[in-house]
Amino acid sequence: MSDSTLLDLVLSRRSAAALVEPGPTREELDRILLAAGAVPDHGLLRPFRLVVAEGEGRARFGDALAATAAEHRPSMPAVGLEKVRAKALRSPTLVVLIASPKPGKIEVWEQNATAACAGYAIVLAAHALGVGAVWKSVPFTKGKALTETLGLADGEEMLGWIHLGRAAREEELPPRKPLALADVASVLDAGGRRPYAVGAPASPDDATSA
Ligand SMILES: Cc1cc2nc3c(=O)[nH]c(=O)nc-3n(C[C@H](O)[C@H](O)[C@H](O)COP(=O)(O)O)c2cc1C
Repeated sequence: MSDSTLLDLVLSRRSAAALVEPGPTREELDRILLAAGAVPDHGLLRPFRLVVAEGEGRARFGDALAATAAEHRPSMPAVGLEKVRAKALRSPTLVVLIASPKPGKIEVWEQNATAACAGYAIVLAAHALGVGAVWKSVPFTKGKALTETLGLADGEEMLGWIHLGRAAREEELPPRKPLALADVASVLDAGGRRPYAVGAPASPDDATSA
């Protein structure tokens, strides 16, 4: 694949608004999950776990989400809990992403960054294969039912889940606004920090040396 094709793929990825059957084939799912192994990973610790839920497994995950919601918000009405439960049923396949930091000298925040990259790798790989994907979450990442259902160990935390399936409607999302680089990027040089200017040399030194 040429560089431009790869970059086009990165730039054209969008989350799917609604996902229906069929889920990814077993071969597609294997390839999507393997992408998580190709992310930046200090110490090569693979500090994440992935739990795939399809069919009745999704209902089981939904039950765990609802039970955890009730644990965190005992006043949540039954209708609210039902909405939480239904979140798990919005696609044929789910990949639950769990941050699983390993003991040792690599900081937990670095390992969590790797786990988040694994989530991105999954949605990007799905896009590459023409499989619809969207990463979803709930405000609570731990709890008794999630611990039991996902086998969360001490220090592990659910980072949401990725829905996979066939995008029900094409072109549903409005085009993504291009990133305004001036809002997020700046340049640090010998004179200090200044706004990043698109098209301008990154540093005056570059301009003179070119
Ligand atoms: C950790 C994480 C959790 C997310 N949780 C939700 C969510 O619960 N609901 C939601 O609508 N979008 C959620 N998103 C955002 C969507 O996955 C998606 O990125 C967003 O709608 C922007 O669409 P795009 O990916 O096409 O740019 C989450 C993203 C991340 C990284």
